[in-house]
Amino acid sequence: MTVHIGAKSGQIAETVLMPGDPYRAKWAAQTFLEGAELVNEVRGMLGFTGTYKGNRVTIQGSGMGMPSLSIYANELIRDYNAQTLIRIGSCGGMQPQVGIRDVIVAMTASTITSPSSGIFRELNFAPCADYGLLSAAVKAAEARGTKTHVGGIYSSDVFYAERPDLDEQMVRHGILGVEMEAAELYTLAARHGRRALAVLTVSDHLQTGEALPSEDREKTFGDMVEIALEAAFT
Ligand code: ADE
Repeated sequence: MTVHIGAKSGQIAETVLMPGDPYRAKWAAQTFLEGAELVNEVRGMLGFTGTYKGNRVTIQGSGMGMPSLSIYANELIRDYNAQTLIRIGSCGGMQPQVGIRDVIVAMTASTITSPSSGIFRELNFAPCADYGLLSAAVKAAEARGTKTHVGGIYSSDVFYAERPDLDEQMVRHGILGVEMEAAELYTLAARHGRRALAVLTVSDHLQTGEALPSEDREKTFGDMVEIALEAAFT
């Protein structure tokens, strides 16, 4: 047990999928895993362990934002020896070619600040995905026929952004989408020698104002979960 995860030693798999929403962790575990068992419910941040095609996997909620994800990822890595951590979540599209329901596989994640900013001082560290996971996710997405974009994203500290000038610069520099967790996950994986990736579904679009209707979310979320699971065990 750790401060925020109640699982016993051995109850967490080496491969962990991390949605922000604990109820999505429950839905994904019940939908895609065999023999899924609840292994954490501290603070309602549900985690389940089961198997996918015979491989053990845990699906653990991360909460929203980098400080919350940092707590769970640190404990999964340091105390439960997680080796592969894949964020599955939603993001806002930032380029005209990125449509609602498309999937983004994040090669790198830019930030203004993150929980790790304090240790880097003058260094602008570039958090990046594990190449093996990234390439396996792209192949899995292509095999499913899912419209997928691969490139840089922005991990923001705020959902309600107040800097149109910043959005403009990101669009200009090809940032595909905005979410709130990946940069810290990639940084922690780099620090501890683990593999990390973020596979994201575009749920809204900053320029067009479109948003995914709630009834479509489950199916689209399912594509992303299967891409992440296939990538993890390729
Ligand atoms: N996650 C989903 N949509 C988002 C947005 N527009 N900004 C930040 N995080 C998001």
